[in-house]
Amino acid sequence: MHTYGTARVNQSGHLEVGGVDVISLANKYGTPLYIYDVALIRERARGFKETFEKLGVSAQVAYASKAFSAIGMIQLVEEEGLSLDVVSGGELYTALKANFPAERIHFHGNNKSKEELIMAIESGIGCVVVDNFYELHMLQSLCEQQGKVMNILLRVTPGVEAHTHDYITTGQEDSKFGFDLNNGQAEEAMQIALKMTAIKLLGVHCHIGSQIFETTGFTLAARKIIEKLAEWKERYQFESDVLNLGGGFGIRYTEEDDPLEPWQYVEEIIKEVQDQTATYSMSMPEIWIEPGRSLVGDAGITLYQTGSEKHVPKVRKYIAIDGGMNDNIRPALYEAKYEAVLANRVNDPVEETVSIAGKCCESGDMLIWDLPLPKAESGDILAVFCTGAYGYSMANNYNRIPRPPVVFVENGNVDLIIKRESYEDIIKLDLPLTRTMSHK
Ligand SMILES: Cc1ncc(COP(=O)(O)O)c(C=O)c1O
Repeated sequence: MHTYGTARVNQSGHLEVGGVDVISLANKYGTPLYIYDVALIRERARGFKETFEKLGVSAQVAYASKAFSAIGMIQLVEEEGLSLDVVSGGELYTALKANFPAERIHFHGNNKSKEELIMAIESGIGCVVVDNFYELHMLQSLCEQQGKVMNILLRVTPGVEAHTHDYITTGQEDSKFGFDLNNGQAEEAMQIALKMTAIKLLGVHCHIGSQIFETTGFTLAARKIIEKLAEWKERYQFESDVLNLGGGFGIRYTEEDDPLEPWQYVEEIIKEVQDQTATYSMSMPEIWIEPGRSLVGDAGITLYQTGSEKHVPKVRKYIAIDGGMNDNIRPALYEAKYEAVLANRVNDPVEETVSIAGKCCESGDMLIWDLPLPKAESGDILAVFCTGAYGYSMANNYNRIPRPPVVFVENGNVDLIIKRESYEDIIKLDLPLTRTMSHK
């Protein structure tokens, strides 16, 4: 078993995380159950922050709450002194309800509604990452109406796209996000923003992809942006105070993955920004980053109980669990791969290769193909690793299955931060037919 954070096998042969036997958690809270190793989240957060501090570079590390948003999670982010990214009114609302300092909230999105922008202005958030001309004008007029000034970054597409070990450069990036850096759109947006009375342009932002294992994509994006900023300085005397290079730092899901440590990404990014700004005699901007997956991904484990089995002779054995694409849609959505163990007998020898099926009425609801396991019996507890990012946040009620609860564990303590949904919760927004529609 690969060990993540505080995960270990205890004397009973059970998986233990944060000093807590996960089988006791399954007994208390039922399955499926999401468990977060809080110490690992703190370690990751500090890894990013302390590298900037050590190198004396002004920075903001903003947790991309799309990876996992909940009041308890946002409180933890605040404890660690990070900033926060939100991409919707719902994520902003969660942050505000968690009493997260509004001035450290950054708001993303390619189609923010008028209501969402008003919410952002009224709550006094620190920055809106403006994605398009429509939003820029709407934000200016809403701020004017309220007599307020909003800090913004312009989201640009630098023509670099990165995933895992690959990056590609394209002249004109075909993306729904942001202002193109190469075709003049970003420059036009910058000129407009500089003339706006209710907008303060702090700088630029880009996000080049996700699950990235190399630094080249980030450094290349930084280089392209700084080259452009140098032109803007020359032509418009505009100097960017902030350069936000987004998130996307990779994590280990399976043995095929070989991510860098947080500090390695940060050091390379800083070096490139320092080199490039020196080349163009520009002052060093504040560097912002937005890790999501790399802060919470490998800190999350999902527990399931095994149930039915199906043997397809000479082909495979399916073992079904009591969750699936409801609580983890990533395998069905983009063939994401995971590793798992039987948490109630981790040390038992591997005896067979099985495929783990979800319980949704959907053939595509397969959680893991070809997983080596001890001989599983129904009632075993399967622990799937690295489910902390885009698991709960993408969870859904397909087949009207209630969403599982979430617990935080740390130093032997357990905190239930999201309750299990009930059937009552499932129907709470349903309304019966009205008299006019009913044929009775
Ligand atoms: C703008 C932006 N920032 C940050 C992130 C976080 O990315 P990751 O979870 O891969 O770190 C995303 C995710 O897609 C994003 O779109």
